[in-house]
Amino acid sequence: SPVTDAQPIKAVPTLPDAQTVTFVQHWTDRLFSFRCTRPQSLRFRSGEFVMIGLMGDPDPKTGKQKPILRAYSIASPSWDEELEFYSIKVPDGPLTSKLQNIKVGDEIILRPKPVGTLVHDALLPGKRLWFFATGTGFAPFASLLREPQTYEDYDEVIITHTCREVGELAYGAKLIENIRKDELLAELMGEDFHKKLRYYPTTTREQSPKMGRITDLMRSGDVFRDLDVAPIAPETDRAMVCGNLAFNLEIKELLEEYGLREGANSEPKEYVVEKAFVD
Ligand code: A2P
Repeated sequence: SPVTDAQPIKAVPTLPDAQTVTFVQHWTDRLFSFRCTRPQSLRFRSGEFVMIGLMGDPDPKTGKQKPILRAYSIASPSWDEELEFYSIKVPDGPLTSKLQNIKVGDEIILRPKPVGTLVHDALLPGKRLWFFATGTGFAPFASLLREPQTYEDYDEVIITHTCREVGELAYGAKLIENIRKDELLAELMGEDFHKKLRYYPTTTREQSPKMGRITDLMRSGDVFRDLDVAPIAPETDRAMVCGNLAFNLEIKELLEEYGLREGANSEPKEYVVEKAFVD
């Protein structure tokens, strides 16, 4: 069929596992998101990650190029035609120093082997689901927040996102605003899905309506008071955690204090954890 401007961009693979970038958005000088074509054969569960990357510079001796690959959570839901990723920009990061310059039409490498523990299968049934994110740890939840099963399986879904500065909340805030007014999503996820969804953003180094690390706000009880919900209990609550290493360790300890146990794909329990990507 003739190619017209109205047609979506199609992948023209020249690299092995190449996918074509279809959209790029820069959120702050440290953060950006992008979308790319999805391999037809790629099936994944919302919340999983894949290895993505770019070809490195030629070796000065041999002239050979090797791919630079890193684990990235897929930020789009499993039903989406395209794939979305949310990334930090590290000035001397081997991958992100290059990846931050990608444009629509460029190719990235994507190994089509999705894995990860932030999946519904790794949790036992519960009433309330907590997503705890810091920084780019929001990415797997951007997928799960658009996954119908999230609202089918739980009465209440609470996402907390802690960042240093207000600007770093923008990707998540915009995503939640968009899914709340998306009629197609309402059809897909049930009319009252957005009544189940609660959003609790906090900052630590810039003034905002709610300040502080989520871990401190849990210890003080602020988060439960602010949301007017009962404290976390193993009978009712399930949690998924994704952030920097120190945060993951601290929140694990807290969740264990509440009586939740860490689960896995092979052994579902009350919470699961994964490290957010850092270059
Ligand atoms: P803080 O500014 O107090 O360090 P980063 O950008 O370094 O990955 O951090 C993202 C967010 O995670 C920041 O708001 C940071 O707060 C917070 N954070 C870092 N370590 C912890 C921790 N151990 N527990 C809770 N929050 C943390």
